[in-house]
Amino acid sequence: MEKCNGENKREGKLKKKVAVAGGAGFIGSHLAKSLKDDGGYYVVVGDWKENDFMHWTDFCHQFFLLDLRDMANCIKLTEGCSEVYMLAADMGGMGFIKSNQSVLMFNNTLISTNMLESARRHLHTVNRYFYASSACVYNEHKQMETTNPGLKESDAWPAKPQDTYGLEKLYSEEMGLAYMRDFGLQFRCARFHNVYGPKGSWKGGREKAPPAFCRKAICSETEFEMWGDGEQTRSFIYIDDCVTGIRKIMDCPDLDVPVNLGSSEMITMNGFAKLALDLCGKSNLPIKHIEGPVGVRGRNSDNTLIKEKLNWEPKVRLAEGMKETMRWIKCEIERELESGKVQDLSRYCSSRVVAQTTDSLDQLLVKTNEDKASL
Ligand SMILES: NC(=O)c1ccc[n+]([C@@H]2O[C@H](COP(=O)([O-])OP(=O)(O)OC[C@H]3O[C@@H](n4cnc5c(N)ncnc54)[C@H](O)[C@@H]3O)[C@@H](O)[C@H]2O)c1
Repeated sequence: MEKCNGENKREGKLKKKVAVAGGAGFIGSHLAKSLKDDGGYYVVVGDWKENDFMHWTDFCHQFFLLDLRDMANCIKLTEGCSEVYMLAADMGGMGFIKSNQSVLMFNNTLISTNMLESARRHLHTVNRYFYASSACVYNEHKQMETTNPGLKESDAWPAKPQDTYGLEKLYSEEMGLAYMRDFGLQFRCARFHNVYGPKGSWKGGREKAPPAFCRKAICSETEFEMWGDGEQTRSFIYIDDCVTGIRKIMDCPDLDVPVNLGSSEMITMNGFAKLALDLCGKSNLPIKHIEGPVGVRGRNSDNTLIKEKLNWEPKVRLAEGMKETMRWIKCEIERELESGKVQDLSRYCSSRVVAQTTDSLDQLLVKTNEDKASL
């Protein structure tokens, strides 16, 4: 299904047409909005769902509701574009990627390979391709200590990502690099380290730690529940820095290797919970540690390469970014309470593990059978 916001076609033609795959998602919608607000771009978004918090006209000129596991859809999305930003992925936080390994691998391999090949087929117009990779590509043996000094880009090899989510990202990075060598597609790739901020998933199981911690800090009254012992370390990049970084990486003439896009401000998860609680005026609430998926022991971003290439690195301090995120999630919860959508906040005090289902795999099969029937 295609939606076009009726912008004057002539005006659209004068702009640089760009596609954002997965542009209704958290990072994709912020990126698409930044490109749209810039004024020089005609922004086309493709996603299999609409954005939960913004109307599509707020962040793009044209919206295609489509499944990017199907190459014909990827070709349609990238038609006539000079830049392609590939952010589509079936993904979520620890409560999702650990328990959905097969489905994620199947879906994401199809999306990544089809999008890249579609860009090749449009090489006469597409001159740059951005791929959203992840810190999950890194070798887990380099992340055994909480005192991680920062992962350098070379630490991805030899390969031993902890989960299939990271392995698919690493494979897709390599495929993009091969397409650059073999077909001349200018490939750009950032390894995101835990992106957070307003207008992202904050409940339901796909959310990552920052919004989950905000939600729990707001809703918990007697204790703050956390998976694991809380000694594991991470760094978190605020959404505005992430969008700035993506755009700088895409515009850089010679950044043709995967680069970290993350903050180097590392914190323990206990420290992170304390920060969330402090922001809610609940500093004395005890932390209750329970069993749950926790990921690697220590992870931080080494920013030597990005500083060298762009003379820039993420700037927003964690306390500052979390304040904004907390403010936004508080409004979301108040809205739910006012509308009666939720009455009992206790369900928001825990995180849940999302069980794997084969629904998305079966949908593809049904579609194939329907297509065959219509031949
Ligand atoms: N958020 C993070 O901390 C983080 C960290 C590392 C890497 N990344 C990567 O960045 C990208 C964006 O992440 P996000 O946090 O915005 O996630 P998100 O889930 O909010 O966005 C991904 C979007 O892809 C869409 N999508 C999934 N399968 C699709 C399909 N078959 N067809 C069409 N659209 C499909 C989803 O509907 C969603 O809107 C992803 O590739 C993710 O793997 C994110």
